[in-house]
Amino acid sequence: MANDKNGWTRRQFVLSLGAAAIAAGCESKRRTSEARRFPNTFRWGCGSSAFQVEGALDVDGRGESIWDIFAKQNGRIKDGSIPSKTCNSYYRYREDVALISAANLNSYKFSISWPRVFPTGSGPLNERGMDYYDRLTDALLQRHITPYATLFHWDLPQRLYESGGWMSRDTGERFADYAVAVTRRLGDRLKNFITINEANVHMLLGHVVGNHAPGLHDAKLIGPVTHHLNLAQGRAIQAMRAQRSDLMIGVALALSPDRPEGGRIHLLNDIAALAFDEIWSGAFLDPLLKGKYPLAAEQMLADAVKAGDMSTIHQGCDFIGVNYYSPFYLKADFSGPTFLSPGETPAGVTQDASGREIDPSGLQEVLDRLTKDYGNPRLIVTENGCSDPLGDHAAIINDEFRIHYLSAHLRAVTQAMDNGSRVERFFVWSLLDNWEWDSGFTSKFGLVAQNVNAGERNPEEILCLVCRYRRNRTVTRLTVAPRKGGPKEVIMPTALITGGHAGIGFECAKQLASRSRYNLVLAGRSMERIEAAAQQLRTDYGIRVSTLKLDTSSLSSVRDAATKFRAMLDSGEVDSFEALLCNAGGYFGGPLSYSKDSYETTFATNCLGHFLLIELLTERMGDNGRIVFTASGTHDPDTADGKMVGIVAEPDAIALANDGRDGKKPLSAGKRYSTSKLCTILYAYELHRRLRRAGSSIASIAFDPGAVPETGLLRTMPKPVQWLAKTRFMKWIMKRVGVTQGSVSFSGASFAQVATDPTYRNGSGKYFQSNNGALSDRRSSRLSYDEQRALKLWNDSKTLVRLQPNEESVQLR
Ligand code: FCB
Repeated sequence: MANDKNGWTRRQFVLSLGAAAIAAGCESKRRTSEARRFPNTFRWGCGSSAFQVEGALDVDGRGESIWDIFAKQNGRIKDGSIPSKTCNSYYRYREDVALISAANLNSYKFSISWPRVFPTGSGPLNERGMDYYDRLTDALLQRHITPYATLFHWDLPQRLYESGGWMSRDTGERFADYAVAVTRRLGDRLKNFITINEANVHMLLGHVVGNHAPGLHDAKLIGPVTHHLNLAQGRAIQAMRAQRSDLMIGVALALSPDRPEGGRIHLLNDIAALAFDEIWSGAFLDPLLKGKYPLAAEQMLADAVKAGDMSTIHQGCDFIGVNYYSPFYLKADFSGPTFLSPGETPAGVTQDASGREIDPSGLQEVLDRLTKDYGNPRLIVTENGCSDPLGDHAAIINDEFRIHYLSAHLRAVTQAMDNGSRVERFFVWSLLDNWEWDSGFTSKFGLVAQNVNAGERNPEEILCLVCRYRRNRTVTRLTVAPRKGGPKEVIMPTALITGGHAGIGFECAKQLASRSRYNLVLAGRSMERIEAAAQQLRTDYGIRVSTLKLDTSSLSSVRDAATKFRAMLDSGEVDSFEALLCNAGGYFGGPLSYSKDSYETTFATNCLGHFLLIELLTERMGDNGRIVFTASGTHDPDTADGKMVGIVAEPDAIALANDGRDGKKPLSAGKRYSTSKLCTILYAYELHRRLRRAGSSIASIAFDPGAVPETGLLRTMPKPVQWLAKTRFMKWIMKRVGVTQGSVSFSGASFAQVATDPTYRNGSGKYFQSNNGALSDRRSSRLSYDEQRALKLWNDSKTLVRLQPNEESVQLR
């Protein structure tokens, strides 16, 4: 076995067999839909950058960069980390190369650290630093991996910054000298260069927004910094071409569709989006490829531009590198010097763990536009990838999310190619989980995972995408498997959600699928609607979604659904049952009615059905399980929500189930609804007490989504009232009187958070409220802490659902 010859272990062999073969998948002729459409000449790679992966910051004469300084400043990096080791690629580059090769990728985009090669940015070359890139280049070539070297990926030598940084024209001259030194030393073997990575990001985040190094915050810097970066690039391209004529030199820019907040009808925002686009994309692409600045940027740049500059910048290039992650949203804002500011991402869009909107169509839009507006240049997708949901539960090591993400973006590339774009290569960001700038180690983009928090690679923790082939060699599944012991199927947790097809239930389901990577079981009354929602979730998120017919107002329906669900667990259709979300709810209004079991319908739906479901399913939950009840604050006389609706009735199950019987005056619809909400909270507390008593660590939590016009109480109001509740004015009034504010999107997201976020594991027995999307732990009404009432409610509910001894959960006795 070849691997034995190389001294590889079994696990490395397994890795090499299976690893990350996005490339293999896509290059396996005629196989997947992507594969069919990528030509044989198309090439695949992955990327990294020096400061994010190398570590060894004070080794072999390396000088400091602006990021060394920035990372040490208090509060700059989300987790306070410094990448002193990170992936340790300075020492472990051979392993990196082996991984790339095992992953069947044939290109690698890395960056050269300017301060490693020129510790002060100029002066004598640091040979020991340069030697590293020499070794890396050779290691890649030995394995037939084409190196793409970026000369500047944001780590400007600190000394150069001190003498003016990109505010000074001189920095461009130093950059050209450095480019020449690299070309002389490596140009005989290294043929592909990217001059500057995302000059636009470095300009904006580093100098105007200030959340990247050097951390400046001054809109007046847009002009000089943009121009000097462009000038530096022009000088470097000139100088490198003068050294060698056989190089492929390109640029990589962060390109995105720049969209107006609120859509195109918002004229001012539309103008803001167009203006931003000129600064973000046009001010970097136009001078390089067309020899002039776009009109909107001209004025800002005028002071920096000197005679002859434009022809220095107008070098053209051999390819344009597109780094694409997500669209941007802009709005007009007259409070600042630029008259624009970032807009809100539309509600309900899917996001990765870094909060970036996932929209593959944006990639196609960018590629189409480059093709159309810039004379059909050669294009490379130099970065594209997603950040996994964070955390250490099973979901994160299952990579359906990433597979789905990449497949969708690859499809966007093929569509652009169909439209005539000359896309030649695709680099996934990134090879390894690494140090993600101001996010530190909290963001995980790697094809190969590692325990970045430990600052060291831990071979036991290295996970790799594994490509599975069916006999016909279709890629059926890319999954992540522990490197040790070969590719194991990693089990994703499952959440069962009642009423998960609409309103906050559906929004929550989307969040569970996209962020927390849960498989789902949607349970509801109308199979047609449930199926449609399930299909959408499957397609959008690539997760497993099963459906279950369930009418919580009917005890026989609950029993049937529970039996079916247990069968799903037994057969393996569903695994690792970790969350039960009791969300389906009865209508607030409407005349008094009785369920099939002849119990009052609101109480049967909101309370008895879920109570029975819990008794029947808790035994099947894992130790980390969570049961969450939606329970709006309408029951609580101490809050504005409660006051608006009225005082609740006694939470007496027998009385509530028989409301209006025997000629007695029924409760008002409002009281029925609110009292049932109080009961769900009492269930949540009582369930918590029982679970703890039994030594179980399952959490039982009550959750108030706030007032959501499309659900609960407001849903049954006349249409004009619902409409009014959505207006800003009404929201303002509601806020003034203290009504908790909800919306389908952020209440759904809060719901998912309570159900899965590790922070809420210890929230058992508590009541969390989402107000404007912010979750807080609050006391509910005094009544809901009454242990006697809770106990009675529980026992009476048992009687009402006619719980059989064999049905009763052992943990809940
Ligand atoms: C890009 C950067 C790269 C990495 C990815 C996630 O903007 O070029 O270094 O941070 O984003």
